[in-house]
Amino acid sequence: MKIAIIGTGYVGLTTAVVLSYLHHDVAAVDKDESKLALLHAGKSPIHEPGIQNLLEDVWHTIRFTPSVAEVVPDAELILIAVGTPPKKNGEADTRHVEQAAREVAQVCLPNKHYTLVVKSTVPIGTNQRVAEVVENVFSERGIRGNVSVASNPEFLQEGLALQGAFYPDRIVVGANSEAAIDTLRRLYKPILEQTFDPPSEFPRPPSYHLPPMMTTDPNSAEMIKYAANTFLALKISFINEIAGLCEAVDADVTEVARGIGLDARIGHRFLRAGLGWGGSCYPKDTAALLGVAAQSGYEMPITEAARAINFRQRERIVEKLRDVLHTLEGKTVGILGLAFKPNTDDIREAPALDIIRELLAEGAIVRAHDPIAIANARQALREKVNTNNGLHFTEDVYELPYDADALVLVTEWDLYHRLELRRLAKQMKTPNLIDGRNVYLPEEARAAGFHYIGVGRT
Ligand code: UGA
Repeated sequence: MKIAIIGTGYVGLTTAVVLSYLHHDVAAVDKDESKLALLHAGKSPIHEPGIQNLLEDVWHTIRFTPSVAEVVPDAELILIAVGTPPKKNGEADTRHVEQAAREVAQVCLPNKHYTLVVKSTVPIGTNQRVAEVVENVFSERGIRGNVSVASNPEFLQEGLALQGAFYPDRIVVGANSEAAIDTLRRLYKPILEQTFDPPSEFPRPPSYHLPPMMTTDPNSAEMIKYAANTFLALKISFINEIAGLCEAVDADVTEVARGIGLDARIGHRFLRAGLGWGGSCYPKDTAALLGVAAQSGYEMPITEAARAINFRQRERIVEKLRDVLHTLEGKTVGILGLAFKPNTDDIREAPALDIIRELLAEGAIVRAHDPIAIANARQALREKVNTNNGLHFTEDVYELPYDADALVLVTEWDLYHRLELRRLAKQMKTPNLIDGRNVYLPEEARAAGFHYIGVGRT
């Protein structure tokens, strides 16, 4: 199938590469010249495990271009995967989505049928607006167009994007037109029937079952995306709330999570207590959902509480540091991990940034390490980098503890699971370890010489 994808961010590029691997004829459009330069040189502009190799595999068939006009007229299906950044009030800004729809409609051929798919995460009602935008452009052009708009929310997780694209739990399609549903069913046929040869890096999990393609109306599809992210976000906030109480009553949240997770209705996943959620999705999408609710005059206290608990986790880690160090002024704190989660260089809404800002504000000296996100963190904290000589980044994790008063594990990179704890503890002025992700066994850390403090653990 001939496909045009607008936007080559995490969602757009992953989708482009995977659909190309599934033998679709894919052209991806992006206006960002620096991204295009990288893509034209065969380099992925995003850090995502496996994407570089897969991009090289499909290199001879996939196309990247800045021009909507070059690729849309010929396409059967057009996928919009542009950003919907938050506005000041938290609502999602759909300007780029509507602009993309306008540009597409300007070059659609009269009478040819197209399926226009919105993959970006958008507030409820956006698909309807996109259909109106398209119709308005057709009437401006004085032509009769034939475009079916469909919502097809994306559920990929950064760091696991390709695994999720090849082996999704489900595919959701919201459309009023049978033609659009049929096109999407043909698009995803190799995934729905698992008829493709798995790439060597992404073998089919033995327990994987064929995914259902659920069809519904566009508004419900848009709501499914927000409700899914909000539910996962509140599951994490719930266990973090329990973690706080565990600390107060001398219980261990990792044991509690194990115990409740064994109930199949609850399940083990997304019950890791710690520094909570960051990234471009949960913070933005929970805020956007509250924005949608506010517009409807509807209150969502559970979602509001989930957000408050999440951001309180960051403050609680700094409180723990204050407790053990008595004052942060002049103390040296090593930060293990800057990315919002492992296997990505994404630092958007990362807990590390808030923690570092607070430590610097209180006069601490901060030394930070991350396997790949230092450049992005340096950029995000540039005002501090330029004005505060207490902030240092290091690429050698064993430089972190030197003369430090405390280490804080913020991101649970694999590398940190394998650290020589004894060696770290020995170099420190006072060997305090605040484990913000409960990565270490308390007894192991203590045996290595650390004063160990986790989240929700005795
Ligand atoms: C999330 C969803 O998982 C995807 O399904 C969705 O498509 C995506 O948002 C999106 O809307 O684009 P992502 O933000 O990439 O994906 O990452 P997650 O793996 O869900 O983790 C989010 C945050 O929750 C991370 O900061 C992680 O450290 C934290 N987390 C996760 C916990 O604190 N505890 C857990 O048990 C699980």
